[in-house]
Amino acid sequence: MKPVVVSGIKPSGKLHIGNLLGMTKQSIDIQSSGKYDCLYFIADYHALTQKYSPTEKSADIFSLAVDMLSLGIDPERSVFFMQSDVLEHANMAWLLNCITPAGQLQGMIEFREKVQEGQPASAGLLDYPVLMAADILSYKAEFVPVGEDQRQHLEIAREIARIFNKRFGKTFPEPKGIFVEGLRVKSLDNPAKKMSKSLPKGCLYLSDSPEVIKKKIRSAVTDSGSEIIYDPEKKPALANLLLIYSEMSGRNIKDIAEEYRSSGYASFKEDLARVISDTLSSFREKKEELSSKPKRIREILLSGAEKARLIASKNLEEAKEKMGLI
Ligand code: ADP
Ligand code: TRP
Repeated sequence: MKPVVVSGIKPSGKLHIGNLLGMTKQSIDIQSSGKYDCLYFIADYHALTQKYSPTEKSADIFSLAVDMLSLGIDPERSVFFMQSDVLEHANMAWLLNCITPAGQLQGMIEFREKVQEGQPASAGLLDYPVLMAADILSYKAEFVPVGEDQRQHLEIAREIARIFNKRFGKTFPEPKGIFVEGLRVKSLDNPAKKMSKSLPKGCLYLSDSPEVIKKKIRSAVTDSGSEIIYDPEKKPALANLLLIYSEMSGRNIKDIAEEYRSSGYASFKEDLARVISDTLSSFREKKEELSSKPKRIREILLSGAEKARLIASKNLEEAKEKMGLI
């Protein structure tokens, strides 16, 4: 049996290139390697822990499913499903709730940040990391590709696995995070901030048309001096654009800087916009095709859920038994 990889992504607004490069791309690369059994899901239950509108949420879920499939998640090679279709996740979360120290949840960075941002301090928001641990442990996953901001959530998932194993006997592997080390795409209008949908002006969405991409890249802030060199300290805005170029083209960042050294910002930006548009062109085509097939998308997700349930229900039964319930 191959090692199991699990990852989830919240349906909360359009995907941008920060999401793609910081997280989604590596999930797809892992799938393509053929070395793992991959389960990828839409974390719709997690999305309910923040303020939302029900009609927008169902549109977000559909559009995320389309985006993930268009980017290359292949339902023949990975199990792709929606969290809420596999009831075992929430059920496992309850079991894990009963062994998770509540004080630790109250101290989680993300919980505190979200409350500070004005999100209601609901029991669901507090419990977010336990549901995430359940998502992972339900499949006895060994690896979890996620963005760097998920480190603390991975830590607690490992700790919950440890507590369970110590109290009820070895059951779950301690899942390891796979992070894209240090990869933070910065906002196009402010390199001091990360690109985020909460700062839409500096955000490059995967669904942006080539014209919009051109416009956004053209007006991206740059640093003083006209030389194209890679220096994140002295030229952070340019370093960000070079990083995007490198990640989107698969070319070495220093080689790109060398090639454009004295060609000036305007021509560099022109080419960068083209590289981004070209890289996203097959995504755009696939997205257009799949967007017109909501029934097909639902079928893919339901068939993924069926496969996921086979594994999750077995592991849930084992956990219940070890906890003395059967
Ligand atoms: P946003 O900040 O736009 O709300 P999310 O918090 O929904 O994005 O991020 C989902 C995932 O994408 C996270 O795991 C995060 O690590 C990754 N991610 C988000 N923004 C960036 C970025 N600018 N650079 C790299 N990774 C990012
Ligand atoms: N919390 C993750 C994020 O915001 C999403 C998520 C939910 C997840 N459950 C998961 C990621 C399980 C990996 C494994 O990015």
